[in-house]
Amino acid sequence: MRGVFVLFLAFMISHADSFITKEEYASGLYHNPRGVGCHLCHGEAGEGKLIARYKDEGEMKVFAGKPINKLSFKEFDEKVNSRIVGMPRYYLTDNEIQILYYYLHREEFQRAAQKHPKTH
Ligand code: HEC
Repeated sequence: MRGVFVLFLAFMISHADSFITKEEYASGLYHNPRGVGCHLCHGEAGEGKLIARYKDEGEMKVFAGKPINKLSFKEFDEKVNSRIVGMPRYYLTDNEIQILYYYLHREEFQRAAQKHPKTH
């Protein structure tokens, strides 16, 4: 996590001018990742979402997308491309996984970047 964090920090500082573009790209990927948008099952901010309630042999069950905005990068990275029942497989690239993780944690990254402003 620390390594990735430093990586993002370096990226954000060196790309401060194209900041909006990165935000848009990250948001675009989260909403339209070559398939069904993550937000439809995991919520707009990755907070988790109830998808459906159904009855199974008289018992009420829920089908829900877990919260995905509190995972470490390692967990996120390992899980996002694995076979998960109820979730499409996306075959995301390393870069796409990093961008999605950034999207879900962008406020933390932005706060950290503000503490270390760009120095020319
Ligand atoms: C059709 C619904 C659906 C979509 C779309 C979807 N997911 Fe999921 N996802 C699930 C379900 C269901 C689980 C498993 C929840 C459980 O185990 O209880 C899951 C699990 C996960 C997990 C593992 C969470 C954990 O703690 O085990 C991650 C990470 C994840 N999804 C990321 C994503 C990302 C990123 C996207 C978009 C690229 C996405 N998902 C799109 C339904 C979806």
